Amino acid sequence: MCEPTHFEVTYAINPWMDPTNPVNVDRARLQWEVLRNTYLSLGHRVDLIEPMPGQPDMVFAANGGLVVGGRAYGARFRFPERAAEGQAYASWLIRSGVTVAEPTHTNEGEGDFLALGSMILAGTGFRTSLAAHIEAAEALDRPVVSLELVDPRFYHLDVAIAVLDDGNGDAPAEIAYYPGAFSKHSQRTLRDLFPDAVICSEADARVLGLNAVSDGLHVVLPAAATGLAASLTARGYTPVPVDLGEYMKSGGSVKCCTMELHR
Ligand code: ARG
Repeated sequence: MCEPTHFEVTYAINPWMDPTNPVNVDRARLQWEVLRNTYLSLGHRVDLIEPMPGQPDMVFAANGGLVVGGRAYGARFRFPERAAEGQAYASWLIRSGVTVAEPTHTNEGEGDFLALGSMILAGTGFRTSLAAHIEAAEALDRPVVSLELVDPRFYHLDVAIAVLDDGNGDAPAEIAYYPGAFSKHSQRTLRDLFPDAVICSEADARVLGLNAVSDGLHVVLPAAATGLAASLTARGYTPVPVDLGEYMKSGGSVKCCTMELHR
């Protein structure tokens, strides 16, 4: 995670961002602390990267790369406003003992790449390029399933799909998704691959309900996504609601603020 020391909305690179709608920095700090404490109380380790002045979106650690099995595919941001974050996250990962493959194609890390069992689900359409999907498959030696995002409100894969169970334990892989975020063809791919997926309503997706982090038992998710939380309970998960309302002003929530170091 990255402390929100410099978090603010000063530019607009997605439809959620409006520089005239200021962030309440005190509230943002508290919300971030609650998220970190939630992970700690669930027994997870949280490492921190030093925030950089002038990089207000660096708090969205998920975008810094995709880490699986001690290897990472580094990020290369779509917009110049965030470009400097790529090297900062790569350096942090290298210092932590992770081998980082340097990207030549545009990709925003776990914003558009979700590790699931032996494969990677990859989004394209707004940020990450298709060429990066192939590069990630080569760098991490895993099959990649490309999915096309079509609704600008859901500009990253991690606001359109939540991984509930990564399928690496005893239970099969399980996801939740909002079909309307995807092209017809990608909806069909998702139906075929995940016939038992939890389908998220537009209302829950619009409060970034799918921007969640699951350990296979507990699902930390935006508190406003009450319908999704009920569906998760019905499937045997324990929803852990947190309010990250200040981060919604930037188009982010729980998952965006979290880079998972997948084993
Ligand atoms: N303001 C940031 C951007 O538009 C939000 C990033 C959200 N991160 C994510 N993993 N979806 O780049």
